[in-house]
Amino acid sequence: MQYPALFEELRFLSGLQTRNRIVLAPMTTWSSHDDGRIHEDELAYLRVRSGGPGLVMTAACYVQRMGKAFSGQWACDTDETLPSLRAACEGIHAEGARAILQIHHGGRMCPSSLLPGQPVSASAEPAERPGFDRPRPMTHDEILESIDAFAAATRRAIEAGYDGVEIHGANTYLLQQFFSPHSNRRSDDWGGSLEKRMRFPLAVTDAVCAAAAQAGRPFAVGYRISPEEVEEPGITIAETLELVDALAERPLDWLHVSVRSYLAGSMRDDSDRERPTRCIIDRVAGRLPVIGVGLVYNPEDAQFILDDGCAAVALGRIMLMEPRWVEKVAEGRAREIRATLPRSGGAEQLQLPQPLYRTLLAREGWLPVEEEEEQQ
Ligand SMILES: Cc1cc2nc3c(=O)[nH]c(=O)nc-3n(C[C@H](O)[C@H](O)[C@H](O)COP(=O)(O)O)c2cc1C
Repeated sequence: MQYPALFEELRFLSGLQTRNRIVLAPMTTWSSHDDGRIHEDELAYLRVRSGGPGLVMTAACYVQRMGKAFSGQWACDTDETLPSLRAACEGIHAEGARAILQIHHGGRMCPSSLLPGQPVSASAEPAERPGFDRPRPMTHDEILESIDAFAAATRRAIEAGYDGVEIHGANTYLLQQFFSPHSNRRSDDWGGSLEKRMRFPLAVTDAVCAAAAQAGRPFAVGYRISPEEVEEPGITIAETLELVDALAERPLDWLHVSVRSYLAGSMRDDSDRERPTRCIIDRVAGRLPVIGVGLVYNPEDAQFILDDGCAAVALGRIMLMEPRWVEKVAEGRAREIRATLPRSGGAEQLQLPQPLYRTLLAREGWLPVEEEEEQQ
């Protein structure tokens, strides 16, 4: 077999074992029902992509109604969501992958139109992006409720049969908003110094790990982190390495470093060519497995990430265009990997829920779209 390292088993701290080193990256589909129940088309989408990867991560799933960041986002905020959570988990398991629920709160990145009230965040600082309203700072009690909500979502994941959860601490959402000097301007126990800005993400991590410890079976907890922010002030790699040290003290199963391109250097400083994930691997120094991601198209790209020191590689967009990427690589058919999105008919051809397919086509430059066939 080519690329044997990609197909080595992996055993995590919790005892969870996977059949290989390939992970389906968490990807939002905008396709769930308005009440947060998963749609049948999402089930089919997940199932067709679960035959190869060792771990399948679900789309970000909101733990509190005030954390809903996307239309058609799915939910794990109440016990009523259990049948929906279970259906997704069973679909993933039926294809032999381990199922990981990504647990999420959008904070100030939630459009007001999706919420029952004004968005909440660490402070009243709006995101520097069009379309987002000024948030309201969370009270101390609301912060504690949110921590509990992450723990409750973990308990639901256990009940629904998942093999673990991933705490979404990345991509500018609530946990990152508390860590960031841009969005956290608090002067109480939850903000100010670097140590206090770490407090909320670490409290969520501790609460989730405590809930996971009650599972009575191997149940993993991972943490997704964004190493930097472009805003000024914004998170720097130096600050992130401090958070990484604190996370490495926790009983976590992995650290998943969210970057747009694995090979790219700093997003804050063009002259700094060091790969942020590589800096994190060096700092972690074997205390925690690191999952790498970002623009993997070919097996060589994935192999590079393992050679760089990551324990596993997550695949996002390529798995939208090629649901059977892993199977094709395993069977020596890498040349047959499809690396474009069809301009029409992609929903049926690639089992993509329609709202996801429409979004992918509409966002210029996100995925390479197939050239239109010339009209005869
Ligand atoms: C359609 C789409 C939806 C995404 N949704 C999520 C999400 O729900 N949670 C998350 O952590 N990252 C999300 N991401 C980021 C991916 O997990 C991944 O980190 C990113 O796409 C880079 O990997 P890639 O180059 O292999 O696509 C999303 C990406 C895409 C393309």
